[in-house]
Amino acid sequence: MKKILLIEGDGIGPEVVGETKKIIDFFNKNSDKKFTTESALLGGIAFDKTGTPFPQETLKLASEADATLLGAVGGPKWESLEYKFRPERGLLGIRKELNLFANLRPAKVFNALANSSTLKREIVEDLDIMIVRELTGDLYFGEPRYVKTLDDGSKQGVNTMTYNSKEVERIARVSFDLAKIRNKKLCSVDKANVIETTEMWREVVSDIGAKEYPDINLSHMYVDNASMQLVRNPKQFDVIVTGNMFGDILSDTASMLTGSLGMLPSASLGEKQNNGKQHALYEPVHGSAPDIAGKNIANPLATILSFSMMLRYSFNYIDEANKLDQAVENVLNNGVRTADIALSGQKFVSCTEMSDKVIEELKKLFN
Ligand code: IPM
Ligand code: MG
Repeated sequence: MKKILLIEGDGIGPEVVGETKKIIDFFNKNSDKKFTTESALLGGIAFDKTGTPFPQETLKLASEADATLLGAVGGPKWESLEYKFRPERGLLGIRKELNLFANLRPAKVFNALANSSTLKREIVEDLDIMIVRELTGDLYFGEPRYVKTLDDGSKQGVNTMTYNSKEVERIARVSFDLAKIRNKKLCSVDKANVIETTEMWREVVSDIGAKEYPDINLSHMYVDNASMQLVRNPKQFDVIVTGNMFGDILSDTASMLTGSLGMLPSASLGEKQNNGKQHALYEPVHGSAPDIAGKNIANPLATILSFSMMLRYSFNYIDEANKLDQAVENVLNNGVRTADIALSGQKFVSCTEMSDKVIEELKKLFN
């Protein structure tokens, strides 16, 4: 019995997590894999109900759970709050407290959707890359950080890009291990021509590669070039590893190659502990989309695919994960679309109808 913590969060979060709960229930009824679920608050709704975007209770439940599924946090309602009360602090807090340093962001093009990309079909068709973003260091967490008023009345802002070699080693190993079970190619992205921290990053990744993964084809690329190459010829990449800040930016670029942000899952993994436990948080890459919240038109597939990543990476339920991925692919091949992935004039289904279609396909696969 695996214990899953569900965090709906804000905006469309409750809808997409609610639809994914139906998939979890399907597995409970129709497979030998069993799950229990609990709920917790994070983000704006947590602030509204408890006065903080990251309640202690949520941290406790998440660290006890076998894995956590998160919808999304944030919205205009909370944007003018003081920094520490903003929904994003909840997300950054849970990443940091659970030490979720490895963020896996696959960008895979479903061929049924290749025409939805803003790039030409031949550039993105069959694309399947994995961006590994370091998630607990860099400018996001580095100290000192402040904005202060100087004597002349002008303001100065300071943030710190910092990594130590141990942090680089562990994210490098996660990336090499992924490359090993994929196409054995890893590209490490940095700005080693200008920023010393990332020059060290490059050296450490090279060392690990030479010593521990001689069979992986390792290359290095500056981040400006990488952002260009991602739209010029994305299929040259297999696994990309980079720091927190560059990874935030590059993963948004990569997501658009696939046609819609509404399709992209992600996993954030912690260190394997001695008792075999590994904290893990799964979430769609899209945000809380407050403009369409509550209208039952959101695309639940990124969250459903995030649950599939949970089956694969947290529970090693490979067969179930493959079947769930296949069910999503079948639904798309059947022409079923939510509004965000429909071409103009094409008919589209609601959020709830989309997950019902996935369940119909799952039923066939589990027969
Ligand atoms: C992401 C998001 C977050 C980030 C925000 C919401 C704090 O953009 O997960 O990529 O910057 O990491
Ligand atoms: Mg981002």
